[in-house]
Amino acid sequence: MKLVKLLANLGYGSRKEVARMFREGRVTDASGEVLYADDQPAHAGVRVDGEPLDPAPGMALLLHKPVGYTCSTRDPGRIVYDLLPPRFRLRSPLLSPVGRLDRDTSGALLMTDDGALLHRIVSPKSKLAKVYEATLAGDLRGDEAAIFAGGTLMLDGEDTPLAPAQLDALGPRRARLVLTEGRYHQVRRMFAAVGNHVEALHRPRIGGLDLGELAPGAWRLLDPESLAALWER
Ligand code: URA
Repeated sequence: MKLVKLLANLGYGSRKEVARMFREGRVTDASGEVLYADDQPAHAGVRVDGEPLDPAPGMALLLHKPVGYTCSTRDPGRIVYDLLPPRFRLRSPLLSPVGRLDRDTSGALLMTDDGALLHRIVSPKSKLAKVYEATLAGDLRGDEAAIFAGGTLMLDGEDTPLAPAQLDALGPRRARLVLTEGRYHQVRRMFAAVGNHVEALHRPRIGGLDLGELAPGAWRLLDPESLAALWER
């Protein structure tokens, strides 16, 4: 792909703005030699203002979404893109969240511009384990684990039962829940179905990918090796 298109697709500016960057000699190779709009060098060999390019298309990242941010691009409030370099919001193909976390939920959020990867992850066939930690308004009754594991629980307004899910009590009002599907507000609705209310919700892990030391609001790029960990059980 011609460099001018590549840079525009990476969000460095409109075609016109990027063309100006070439005229200003801001786009070079690693040795500082000026590059031109029609050049097609290897991604890793390009510098803009002396800095390596943003990741090539096919990128994936893991974000620790804090409470108070939405996964949408249109929300007038704070959005997850506010936590990333501004160019990431302007990329084509789009960098999108893989599934969603509610505004009031914190935790592991994958984002990618790789449509095939996104579909592979969100596909019901993937059965990727999503781990949640919930803080509840009321004490656990004791029968929730059996109900959630049963594979017959029907949420309000739905016509197929939930897949079996694993619940472990972490305290009288704290629980760890492992889901293999991702229905709308699923955790909150599951606890509502057993007469409780989720006060706080956090997702520390998706598949084999753990937030680890990633602080709220921080993110890291996933190279192919760390991304492969996603599928480890
Ligand atoms: N279930 C919920 O209720 N909310 C989330 O953000 C994720 C799962």
